[in-house]
Amino acid sequence: MLILSIESSCDETAVALVRDGREVLTDAISSQVELHREYGGVVPEIASRKHIEHIYALADQALRDAKCSRADLDAIAVTYAPGLIGALLVGVNFAKAAALAMDIPLIPVHHIRGHIAANYIAYPDLQPPFLALVVSGGHTLLVDVRDYTHMAILGGTRDDAAGECFDKVARVLHMPYPGGAALDRVAQGGDASQYALPRPKLSGNPLDMSFSGLKTAAINLLHNMEQKGESVNIPNFCASFSEAVGDMLIPRTMHALEQSGYRTLSVAGGVAANSRIRALLQANCAQLGVRLCIPPLSLCGDNAAMIGAQGYYEYLAGSIADQSLNAFATKSMEGESV
Ligand code: KG4
Ligand code: ZN
Repeated sequence: MLILSIESSCDETAVALVRDGREVLTDAISSQVELHREYGGVVPEIASRKHIEHIYALADQALRDAKCSRADLDAIAVTYAPGLIGALLVGVNFAKAAALAMDIPLIPVHHIRGHIAANYIAYPDLQPPFLALVVSGGHTLLVDVRDYTHMAILGGTRDDAAGECFDKVARVLHMPYPGGAALDRVAQGGDASQYALPRPKLSGNPLDMSFSGLKTAAINLLHNMEQKGESVNIPNFCASFSEAVGDMLIPRTMHALEQSGYRTLSVAGGVAANSRIRALLQANCAQLGVRLCIPPLSLCGDNAAMIGAQGYYEYLAGSIADQSLNAFATKSMEGESV
């Protein structure tokens, strides 16, 4: 089954062609990062306008790159939630029009389910059930992936997402938006023990996390040093910060593995590209004897191939939308999509 998939939930317009959920024929992305950089974050209206400008050409290009024609397509999959509403609507409307014109099924895909499905592309033998750690710019979740379309959230952040925390701290360090990757690069040469940053303890669900206290403490420390005229050792600060984020994520992930009994952990989302988090997960999973699946960097961030992968399994589960499909800025990944 050949699916044309569309992703436009934030600042990347992406179109892919994916066969049977696992084989990526093309994966084209038009990133707007440079445009938003001068504002220090994504400007929603600009994002929507750029999606409109690029989406048709990208879809056309995807078909040409894969040497396919419209007649070869069996279905259209599209991210319909969560994300910037104007940005999502561009992708959803394009997908609706394409499905109507070609008279093929329209498959709505939850963006976070898509991130998890990036692992099906990277690991062709991977099958649910497994535990997923989702760490993106907007979400930080531990998910029980019972099967391809049935998922339960076991825990997650109560406030900021890990990626947002990386980006905010990077901004104070004058790194260009989105700063997570830049902060990671600088941290690789640093000593993580120089700066003392908090490891907040939470009551209630032991799998829940909190990043806002860490973010505020890191930013306050930087401002205090600046006020006192003290110079910051940037690599050491970035390493100390990355270590603190890892100390929030890794013990809870290991706890969730023990609690669920799963022997496979899949990691998903942009922050899965972080070198310290990857190294910590590798070491901890090896110690527990757990299989670790982390997509290559190209599949960690937003892309359309992951939407095509999840779309295939949504289709098999009967999740097909009609022309009344709408987009949603927020929506739980646990429920039914149509
Ligand atoms: O999954 P994603 O591409 O978009 C969302 O769905 O949010 O994640 C983007 C987030 C941004 O916060 C970005 O700074 C972060 O992933 N990120 C990183 C790294 N690469 C991307 N954070 C830490 N270390 C990295 N290497
Ligand atoms: Zn994403």
